[in-house]
Amino acid sequence: MTAEIKGIIDKLISTRSLSLEEYESLIAGRDNEAYAVLQKEALRLRHGIYGNSVYIRGLIEISNYCKNDCYYCGIRKSNKHCSRYRLTRDEILSCCENGYRLGFRTFVMQGGEDAYFSDDFMCALISDIKKMYPDCAVTLSLGEKSFDSYKRLFDAGADRYLLRHETADSEHYSRLHPNRLTLESRIRCLESLKKIGFQVGCGMMVGSPFQTPGTLAVDLKFIEEFSPDMCGIGPFIPHKDTPFANEEKGSAELTCFLLAVIRIIKPNILLPSTTALGTAASDGREKGILASANVVMPNLSPLTVRNKYELYNNKLHTGAESAEKLEALKKKMKSIGYEIVCDRGDIKRN
Ligand code: 5AD
Repeated sequence: MTAEIKGIIDKLISTRSLSLEEYESLIAGRDNEAYAVLQKEALRLRHGIYGNSVYIRGLIEISNYCKNDCYYCGIRKSNKHCSRYRLTRDEILSCCENGYRLGFRTFVMQGGEDAYFSDDFMCALISDIKKMYPDCAVTLSLGEKSFDSYKRLFDAGADRYLLRHETADSEHYSRLHPNRLTLESRIRCLESLKKIGFQVGCGMMVGSPFQTPGTLAVDLKFIEEFSPDMCGIGPFIPHKDTPFANEEKGSAELTCFLLAVIRIIKPNILLPSTTALGTAASDGREKGILASANVVMPNLSPLTVRNKYELYNNKLHTGAESAEKLEALKKKMKSIGYEIVCDRGDIKRN
């Protein structure tokens, strides 16, 4: 590690903030030694706030229909090879029932941008779930909507909303998405969600095409300034039926490095060790936890549709990331010193 990198890390640890140039130098100049220093501090902060608890979320993938055509995503509208499905209300409720029994106290309903799931439908569903499981949190991950739609979903009882910003560099954003999707609109949605009162999650892929240390610096500065409650990051993994089929996959090492940096920027943030990280590297999920992630999101979707929610190829869905294998996940976490807890797992504020 050079003296410059050492100085940057010291500044990050003492002020939780860096300039764009410093973030960029830190990413470009990182090495194992730099990671070890960041990791140690990130874990110290994580343990001070969350101990060795790992929060779990039951992920229910409600639909793989999507009106958008993001260049990286396997469920993009133009992918004619994607076999489309929608869960029924009863199927979603039975996922919750199953999940509750397994010990989940957060249900995450995620899907493509599918107009079939109207605000009326979602609001009725959310309020029923909250009535049936008053001790559970409901998280939504359903893409961009109007302020009024978000407000209705919040008033129906939804607690949290995940909407990754994907990249906070607008030029980079435009190389990952068709013209009708803009960073400006994405940020407006995130601001609305926060204003309404949701616990809000943003996040980006790591190693997406055209990403550079410079664009990642913009992501970190955005995270620092927006101060999300949650931040989901995982390596980009190519999907064969997308325009990015032949692009290189993102690195698990850089993902872990960024997890540690984000923990230091915002010590109480909820950081998932993502399925993409588990897919990109062997023991990726464990590496994420050891980089200070404190959340895992096992899949609660019905087994019959699970392989259809294919955002990228080889997405894990039957191993320790599946809700049925929770015992195996518990053992894995235990073997690295962590404990899965049965808890809503809200962000701790002070
Ligand atoms: N590789 C990794 N992550 C992806 N996502 C979508 N496509 C891919 C891919 N090919 C991520 C996006 C999205 C989240 C639901 O999944 O960041 O927000």
